Amino acid sequence: MSETNFSKADAAQGQSLWRRLVDSKLDRRNFLKNATLAGVAAVAASPLQLRSASPAALDVAAAEAAPLHNPRLIFSPIGPSTADEIVLPAGYSYQVLAPYGFELANGQKVGYNHDWLGFYPIDMVEKGIDPSYYFNGFLSPQMSSEEGLLVVNHEYFNPMFVGGHVDPAVEKSAEQLQEEQHSVGLSVLHIRKNGEGQWEIVVDSPHTRRIDATSTLLLTGPAAELDGGPEAIGSLANCSGGVTPWGTALSCEENFQDYPVALPDGYGWDPAVYGKKHYGWVVEVDPFDASSTPRKHTAMGRFRHENVAVAVGKDGSVVAYMGDDKADSCVYKFVADKKLSGNRAEDMTILESGKLYAADFGNGKWLLVDYDAQEALQKAKKSDDTPLFASQAEVLADARAAALALRATPVDRPEDIEIHPKDGSIFVALTNNTGHGNFHGQIVRIVESEGDPTAESFDWSIFAVGGPQSGFSSPDNLVFDAEGNLWMVTDISTSRHNKGIYKFHGNNGLFFFRTEGPFAGIAYQFASGPVHCEMTGPAWTPDGKTLFLAIQHPGEESPSLEELSSHWPNGGTERPLPAAVAIAGFPGW
Ligand code: FEO
Ligand code: CA
Ligand code: CA
Repeated sequence: MSETNFSKADAAQGQSLWRRLVDSKLDRRNFLKNATLAGVAAVAASPLQLRSASPAALDVAAAEAAPLHNPRLIFSPIGPSTADEIVLPAGYSYQVLAPYGFELANGQKVGYNHDWLGFYPIDMVEKGIDPSYYFNGFLSPQMSSEEGLLVVNHEYFNPMFVGGHVDPAVEKSAEQLQEEQHSVGLSVLHIRKNGEGQWEIVVDSPHTRRIDATSTLLLTGPAAELDGGPEAIGSLANCSGGVTPWGTALSCEENFQDYPVALPDGYGWDPAVYGKKHYGWVVEVDPFDASSTPRKHTAMGRFRHENVAVAVGKDGSVVAYMGDDKADSCVYKFVADKKLSGNRAEDMTILESGKLYAADFGNGKWLLVDYDAQEALQKAKKSDDTPLFASQAEVLADARAAALALRATPVDRPEDIEIHPKDGSIFVALTNNTGHGNFHGQIVRIVESEGDPTAESFDWSIFAVGGPQSGFSSPDNLVFDAEGNLWMVTDISTSRHNKGIYKFHGNNGLFFFRTEGPFAGIAYQFASGPVHCEMTGPAWTPDGKTLFLAIQHPGEESPSLEELSSHWPNGGTERPLPAAVAIAGFPGW
């Protein structure tokens, strides 16, 4: 047997398996190149490194003085900032859009802690979606960049700022629980540019919609009957997401496990409802039909779903890449049974059935997560020696345990995944795993065999490595632009901001990378966020002139409502508010 037996067991002998795989991929010449370009003077001056400088490294040094190669995206990179403000390069500005609590005409309010943003041009469906245009959420240039539907995920809430629950030892009132349950899920907002070029919310639009922890949803697929399904109450923990080539939103339920846990350790929500296995799925929402029932697709597996990125193969195959954001968890892909038809009603059912795979990075293989096909799943046992699974429904409901039983590779917390617009390679942000000494994370690039998203084997490399030498730490959400440049936001945990080994970074920010040429993998900082926030959800308009971004959990470490660590966006003594922002100043593509 030619395959190497990479397993958790040999990882236990020292560094984690993932860390050793990363080390095996790091190319010393590229590392030196990156360190030099990142401006680490001490490295550049080191006699040892001068001696080992390769011709490639010297070419890079000469090119360093040249302007950025993409004239349409020239900006003067900013440095780290600790200001309670969004700092942008000269010539760029932002406006606040849809802050928490913004009142909608239907009596509902915009939720808390905005994460993924999806921009759906108002004419997206009628203009026809080009499946090859996935770099920008399947938005082609002929679609409107002046009016659309903004889908906003609301990942979680801060009990102090939502409902005013300040003492975790005290039970919550019914009113507080209700306010919390209305603050999560998703918002669908109709937005358009006014005569002054400012984005506004159309408050009385029929498209306006909130889906929260009390809404009615439907489970589809092999595990739909689980825990009294197919009807499910609410969606929560909606982290990142993705756009489908038929114009729906995919919203990923991530840290669902905290909600039914009793106070003071959890949120203290009713475990009879929120303890069901009805959370932790990919949720599909049609933003263009406010009366449609959102669906949770069990065929795509249940884990701490961070994100989803959809690719369409040359033959119309639909493939969704996903990550499980937990330390030592896996990267997955879902290959739908049905191919893209171009008929929207028909394509709406594509994600209801298909094959789930988990990535084995040691062998470059996608492992089929299927009970009937895999003896390892039929034989897997719990600690009490009883079977771990009895059916594919049970496998899907605990896809992490199934992937690990198949010896898929536990990696360092996969956050966002995006697909390169020019070559179809798949970029995965592994944010960090402090338990294994991976403090600053990496961005990994996967190349499918023959460039086919349905392939069962792949190769991979390290695209960028976080740390003081590269200027960023803890990569999270990603988005590509039309030139194939990568934009990445960071998510250093709030408690670590501006302390110890994270001090170099300042607040969380937004970074720009070229993905080809001598500067590939070098980070240039474009934005820095307010105090104790994480920037999330970057999304472009079709013309590339507006970048939507979200500011999540500003002021999260505020000790009390009287001692606030951030007053963004309103300043003065105001409470901090999560919000989306629209950044202007881009020349477009
Ligand atoms: Fe919600 Fe893993 O970020
Ligand atoms: Ca994230
Ligand atoms: Ca995050």
